[in-house]
Formats: sequence, structure tokens, C-alpha cells
Amino acid sequence: MKITVIGTGYVGLVTGACLAEMGNHVLCLDVDPRKIEILLGGGIPIHEPGLLEIVRRNAQAGRLEFTTDIPRSVAHGTLQFIAVGTPPDEDGSADLQYVLAAARNIGRLMTDYKVVIDKSTVPVGTADKVRAAVRDELERRGLGDTAFSVVSNPEFLKEGAAVADFTRPDRVVVGVDDGDDRAAMLMRSLYAPFVRNRDRLLVMDIKSAEFTKYAANAMLATRISFMNELSRLAERLGADIEAVRIGIGSDPRIGTHFLYAGAGYGGSCFPKDVKALARTAAEAGLPSQMMGAVEAVNEAQKLVLAAKVVAAYGEDLRGRTFAVWGLAFKPNTDDMREAPSRVLLAELVRRGARVQAYDPVAAEEAARVLALDLGQHPAQAGIHFAASAQEALAGADALVIVTEWKEFRTPDFEQLAARLADRRVFDGRNLYEPAMMKSFGLRYESIGRPA
Ligand code: NAD
Ligand code: UGA
Repeated sequence: MKITVIGTGYVGLVTGACLAEMGNHVLCLDVDPRKIEILLGGGIPIHEPGLLEIVRRNAQAGRLEFTTDIPRSVAHGTLQFIAVGTPPDEDGSADLQYVLAAARNIGRLMTDYKVVIDKSTVPVGTADKVRAAVRDELERRGLGDTAFSVVSNPEFLKEGAAVADFTRPDRVVVGVDDGDDRAAMLMRSLYAPFVRNRDRLLVMDIKSAEFTKYAANAMLATRISFMNELSRLAERLGADIEAVRIGIGSDPRIGTHFLYAGAGYGGSCFPKDVKALARTAAEAGLPSQMMGAVEAVNEAQKLVLAAKVVAAYGEDLRGRTFAVWGLAFKPNTDDMREAPSRVLLAELVRRGARVQAYDPVAAEEAARVLALDLGQHPAQAGIHFAASAQEALAGADALVIVTEWKEFRTPDFEQLAARLADRRVFDGRNLYEPAMMKSFGLRYESIGRPA
């Protein structure tokens, strides 16, 4: 099939590459010439395990192409995936300007049947807006009779595991208009190679498909905020949240997955999707009590590591040096959007501390976003980037762990104790056994577990 993917970010590039891998001819469009230049040069603009190989293989085979040329992109695909960003507007609602710009471009230039597929996360009712945008442009050109379909196909991949999630999905959700058999059939055959178990392809009405995406992310974010709130209570009561997680998770109705208390959820999606769902609910006249609570708990949780540091050292951190391990919002990505590390670093430098930060892949992106957060070069604010986890420890009083990269799981504990002047570790991801840390003479504080 001939496919155009509009927006070559995390979702667009993974979608384009994985669809090309199945033999489709895919053209990826982006308005950011820098991204397209990197892709045309044989690289990828993001860190995503396994993606580079697929991109290279399919680009070499001529099945995966990249462009900034909008007329070419509209002419290419019968299927036009819209995978552009939907960032939060000032009031928390999803900003649809990029989605609608893409839809207008399609209507402005298309000459034959197209399936316009909303892959971006968009509020219920967006497909109607996309349809109206395409239709308006066609009518302006006197081509109001040209047939096209609009489909909702939300994406459920996780960064860091995007290729596996896309190629072996738990489910593929496809929302189509009642009676639009042509679009439904095209979507079924497109996804057939990925859903050998056909029950995993869920075809439903468009509004339910749009809503399913927000419901899924809101449920996952709720689980995390629930566990984070319980972790604070567990600490106060002297219980261990890890034992509690296993204790409740053994019940298959609950399950142990995605129940880890930590430094708060970040990333490009949970924060914005929780806000957008709250906004949708308010606009519908049914304000959500839960979404506000999920968000408030998360905002507070992002401050927990800094609060532990302040409890140990006082408000004034001048003269202190902290090693920080992990900056990305989660392991296996260089994405810094809404990363809890940004809150921690701002709190530490605001109190005069010096920071030696290390992340296996996100340092460059971290330097860029921290400069924006702090309004000055990170080095001027006292943040220095180390080339290794070991280097970050040199001369530090204490270590703070924010992201659970695999390489942090089994450090040389003796060396850790020897290098940290104060032998203190604040662990935002519960990586180590408290008893073992004690045996190495380390003072260890984690999340929701007895110190
Ligand atoms: P991203 O910011 O990484 O990429 C979006 C890309 O779209 C950018 O490269 C931007 O330059 C480009 N773009 C904007 N307007 C354009 C236009 N008119 N024409 C062509 N390109 C244009 O975003 P992302 O993380 O890939 O997210 C995209 C959507 O997918 C969002 O709605 C998000 O909520 C959703 N989503 C993201 C993830 C994820 O893990 N990142 C997972 C599931 C769903
Ligand atoms: C999340 C969802 O998991 C995807 O299904 C969805 O497609 C995506 O959002 C999206 O819509 O963009 P992602 O943000 O890539 O994916 O990463 P997650 O693995 O979900 O982690 C999100 C945040 O929650 C991270 O900061 C992570 O550290 C945190 N988290 C996750 C916890 O604190 N505890 C957990 O048990 C799990």
C-alpha cells in the first residue's frame, strides 16, 4: 500500500518504519527540515532501541522515504496518517492546530480517494473537525464530491519499547464511520501482519476509538498516582510499598505491572492527556474529580526527592554537590518532556547546590531543556554533565537517582560508599535492597520504604 505519514516524531517515524518493514511504500513528511535532513543522511533524530536498523534497511530498499515537500506527500499515499503533536493549550485542552493544518493540506491538494487517519492523540470529536477541514478545502476548489474517509487509529506504543509495541501490539484500535467498509477493509489489511490474533484488531465507532486512548492513559496515570500517594503513607506508617505492590498485584484483577511508586510520571503524554481529559469533562459539563487529583498527586511526587534532600541537608544547599543519575523521563529514551529530573534539578540549584548529572543518552537534550527551564546555561546554574555514572560521583556528597537505567542497577557498592563524601543515596526508583545498602555503610532513602 502507498502510505504517507505526516509528522516524523516518535510516533510518526515508528509507524512509518514498521509499516515499510511489512512491504508498504511509505513517505514520511515533516515540517522540521532538521529532522528530515538527519533521516536523509541515514540517521534518526531520536533515541529509540531497534529503530535505526529498520529505518536504514527500509530506506535502502526504497520503501521508506522522507520529505518536507507537502504536495508530494499528499499525492503519495492513499492512506494519510496524521501523527503530529497535540500539546496542551493554555487551558489544558489538546491544541489541534497541527492536526488541522495537516488535514487542510490534504484537502487543499488531494485529487483522488484518501483515508485520513488520526494517529495523534486527539479529543473526542476531532475526527469531525478533520473531516470538516478536508471538506472545506475540497469545496473551495470546487471538488466537493471527492470521496475520502476519516479514521481514528490511536497509538498505544511506549517510548523505549516503541518498535516492539508497534509490531506486537496488545491491540490495534480502529474507529470508522458506520458503513464505511472501504476504510475498514483497508485498515484491516494494513494491520493484518501485526495482529495474527485477529481479536486484537478492535474496530469500533470513531468517538469510542478517540475516547479509548484517553481512557487508557488516564487509567495508567491513575495507577501510578495511586501508588505514589500510598508510598507516602507507607513511609509514614513504616510499611514497604514494594511488598504492598506485590501483595496487591498478585490478585489478577490488579496485576503487578505498572504499579511502581517513583519520582512521578513524566513524558509527553500522561501529563498532557490527563489535563486534556479533565478539560473535555469540564466542557461536557461533567467535571472530573479524579483527573485533577491524579495530576496534583503527580506534581507533588515530582518534589519528593528534593524534599528528602532538604530534610537531610536543610534548605540551604550552598557548598553541597549532588551526583544525579538519570535525566530522561524514563529509561531507553532521550525524551526530556515533563521529566521529573527537571523539577529536582531546578530545586537543587535554586538552593545553591552544585549538580553532576549523568544520563546514558539524554545529556544533550537535557542541556537544551534545562537552559530553557533555568533561563541560563546549565553550567552557569551549577549543573555539570558527567561522561559516566562513575565520573558523576567524583567529589559528590550524595547521589540522587531519578531514572532507572539498567546500568544503575548493579553498581560497585563499595566504590559508591567510598566516593560519596556523605555516603548517602536518595533513590527515586527503588533500585536497591535497603538491607544491602546498609551493609555497605550507605545511608539509603527510597520511595515508600522504611529508611
Ligand atoms: P513529536 O513532537 O515527537 O513529533 C511530531 C512531529 O510532527 C514533529 O516532528 C513536528 O515537526 C511535526 N509536525 C507538526 N506539524 C506538522 C505538519 N503540519 N506537517 C508535518 N509535520 C508536522 O510527537 P510524538 O511524540 O510523536 O506525538 C505525536 C502524537 O502521538 C501526539 O498526539 C501524542 O500524544 C501521540 N502519542 C505519542 C506517543 C509517544 O510515546 N510519544 C505514544 C502514543 C501517542
Ligand atoms: C505511555 C503509555 O504507557 C503508552 O501506552 C502510550 O501510548 C503513551 O504514554 C502515549 O500516549 O504517549 P510513555 O509515556 O512512553 O507511554 O512511557 P511509560 O512507560 O508509560 O511511562 C510514563 C511515565 O510513568 C514515566 O515517567 C515512568 O517512569 C512512569 N511510571 C511508569 C511510573 O512511575 N511507574 C510505573 O509503574 C510505570
